[in-house]
Amino acid sequence: MKKHIITTSYTEFASDTELAGADLELLKTARTVAKCAYAPYSKFYVGAALRLENGIIVTGNNQENAAYPSGMCAERVAIFAAGANYPDYAIDSIAICCVTASVNGKPFSPCGGCRQVLFEYENRSKKPMRIILGGMTGIIYLLSSVKDLLPLSFAGDFLKK
Ligand code: THU
Repeated sequence: MKKHIITTSYTEFASDTELAGADLELLKTARTVAKCAYAPYSKFYVGAALRLENGIIVTGNNQENAAYPSGMCAERVAIFAAGANYPDYAIDSIAICCVTASVNGKPFSPCGGCRQVLFEYENRSKKPMRIILGGMTGIIYLLSSVKDLLPLSFAGDFLKK
């Protein structure tokens, strides 16, 4: 028997003032698009803004549907738009935020399905994707790779015969 320990890490910023720079700009864009989310059922408005290696910013927000499973999370709307329109450019960073007051003052973190998609695109990009998690105000988390969100992940390697 062998026990393994996996360590993940993230950096916490107390507020916008501590974050600053390009990361803050990306988070502000995610905040703006979160307000345009179509979330009449959950009223949980999420925005995502990603920066490609060429500097282009692609955004997304959650799109709900009366047939609930037909909706889509904000992160995936943004990532798939980037994959569809800029397939040759790596994703450098993604900022994700929700309008709703954060839980216990902390930013919400992406659902499992979005973690899996973020992981796929980090592999596709062949470089770590930085992740900025925040609310409209307050504490912000910065992760330096999707690996910190999804340890023991499932990747295409498992499908190789
Ligand atoms: N949602 C996201 O957009 N991203 C996540 O990571 C978690 C959940 C959306 C889906 C749905 O529209 C609403 O939030 C409530 O689950």
